Amino acid sequence: MSVKSHQHDVLVIGSGAAGMTLALKLSTDYQVALLCKDVSSEGSTYYAQGGVAAVLDEYDSIDSHIQDTLVAGAGICHTDVVKFTVEQSPAIIAWLVDLGVKFDTETAADGRQEFHLTQEGGHSHRRVIHAADATGREIGSTLAQHVRDRANVSIFERYAAVDLITENEVGRPGKRCLGAYVLNLETQEVELFQARFVVLATGGASKVYLYTSNPDTASGDGIAMAWRAGCRSGNMEFNQFHPTCLYHPLAKSFLISEALRGEGARLLLPDGTPFMKRFDAREELAPRDIVARAIDHEMKRLGCDCVYLDISHKDKDFITSHFPTIYARCLELGIDICTSPIPVVPAAHYTCGGIVTDINGATDIPNLYAIGESSFTGLHGANRMASNSLLECMVFASAAARHIQLQQNSISAALNIPAWDESQVTDSDEDVVISHNWDELRRFMWDYVGIVRTDKRLQRARRRTRLLAQEVSEYYSNYKITNDLLELRNLITVAELIIQSAIQRKESRGLHFTLDYPNLLPEAKDTILVPPNFG
Ligand code: FAD
Ligand code: SIN
Repeated sequence: MSVKSHQHDVLVIGSGAAGMTLALKLSTDYQVALLCKDVSSEGSTYYAQGGVAAVLDEYDSIDSHIQDTLVAGAGICHTDVVKFTVEQSPAIIAWLVDLGVKFDTETAADGRQEFHLTQEGGHSHRRVIHAADATGREIGSTLAQHVRDRANVSIFERYAAVDLITENEVGRPGKRCLGAYVLNLETQEVELFQARFVVLATGGASKVYLYTSNPDTASGDGIAMAWRAGCRSGNMEFNQFHPTCLYHPLAKSFLISEALRGEGARLLLPDGTPFMKRFDAREELAPRDIVARAIDHEMKRLGCDCVYLDISHKDKDFITSHFPTIYARCLELGIDICTSPIPVVPAAHYTCGGIVTDINGATDIPNLYAIGESSFTGLHGANRMASNSLLECMVFASAAARHIQLQQNSISAALNIPAWDESQVTDSDEDVVISHNWDELRRFMWDYVGIVRTDKRLQRARRRTRLLAQEVSEYYSNYKITNDLLELRNLITVAELIIQSAIQRKESRGLHFTLDYPNLLPEAKDTILVPPNFG
């Protein structure tokens, strides 16, 4: 059977802020394939609300942004990486503005137009530049427009990468990454993508939890593919739970931006009492791990289903101009945020750990890069500070593009890579196994590996993950692959990495809180897991 095969200089897997920035930063001499497993506008980037953290105000400073990031990261950020990222923030914003991104402005006292900067948890200054409460949509659609105009970039929508191809896997000496097997979701055929460089920009893995702010694409595919190919993972125990997702039976994964708290919204118990003062002097603007834990604590203490976020003391004009998307979505569901508090709960939001990379986004495998939420660069430590993620996506995509352009790489001719072998598999007649296991995994991850952990809960989760891994591996060997099966297999791998990392950390730090080790150890260390085929 003939298998469709493609050849490019650079294969970018993922079309969010990270993948698109990389495609645009590469010189037009490079032939680029940009893959996404859904339509290109589906991914966390397009849902980002609050904005991008950047030092833009004359009273702010690079040092202050660095310090705030280090404090939010609970002592485990890599200071060199924080400095590298923060220093580039003004240039990244200038690049976006040049491309045509329209950030909100306001009129200064002297009549000049300047950017409106909002505040979020952990920031000691107003430094979050934004486009109302739909910053990701504005950035994503502007980048997409430029990518579409690039003749050297071919976009492949509804193409799900299955596995990376490395030299040693196809019987050649060496470890270089040569491309990927990719499932065309229209034809259900696996196609071969060869490239001189492969970039994973597949986003995070928050779909491993039952309740999440993330879209369906966030199934940790890049993290799992890199692990299987022989890359180390870092700090996978640090899953960020956003404190305020809308609690409503008809709302799936809708975030209520931290920027509301930045503009004065208060968290209230069901009887209307504010409670954050009891947990942290910074109250509603404490870093996310602290606010999410406080809400979780109060919900468990009172046995209530949610707490409330109230911004109704602000003018209606202020609310509807700063938060038009949130206002409209809540109103559709019968909640007028100008007059009533919003029911909210914490939900899985961000994967702080990921594929270990260096400052260029290079992974342990030559010619393989990882950027954006799929990567572990050392920037976020034990808790990402609000609005530092989009910044990281664009800073590291730029660094990876520079690094790729510096490489001399001899592999350019098509290699004799074996086609995907489907000779031993049949169509599945038991899809229910996949949906059942999906549900089971996400539920026990939420119950046992969530905001508050214990050794017993982690061990329980590990036993269940092993059973699921075994079942899915058998299934994978016997049946034709589907996107649901691929995602389930990847989420199980990610769950194993999270649980193993959490078991190894014998302290509570940032987002990892365990009742068995409630204190901080004196030495701050990353949790680096090494795959069996490493090296
Ligand atoms: P994504 O934007 O998630 O893109 C991933 C891409 O990979 C998609 O195109 C997807 O189709 C593709 N993909 C995945 N797996 C495969 C596969 N197997 N094969 C092919 N393609 C694949 N951060 C901030 O800094 N500021 C904010 O205000 C902010 N608000 C947020 C609000 C919400 C609701 C959410 C969910 C996140 C928010 N974040 C925010 C976090 C931030 O948006 C993300 O971390 C960031 O956008 C990730 O970008 P990315 O390019 O790494 O991945
Ligand atoms: C938000 O708007 O609250 C999300 C910001 C972020 O995740 O950085």
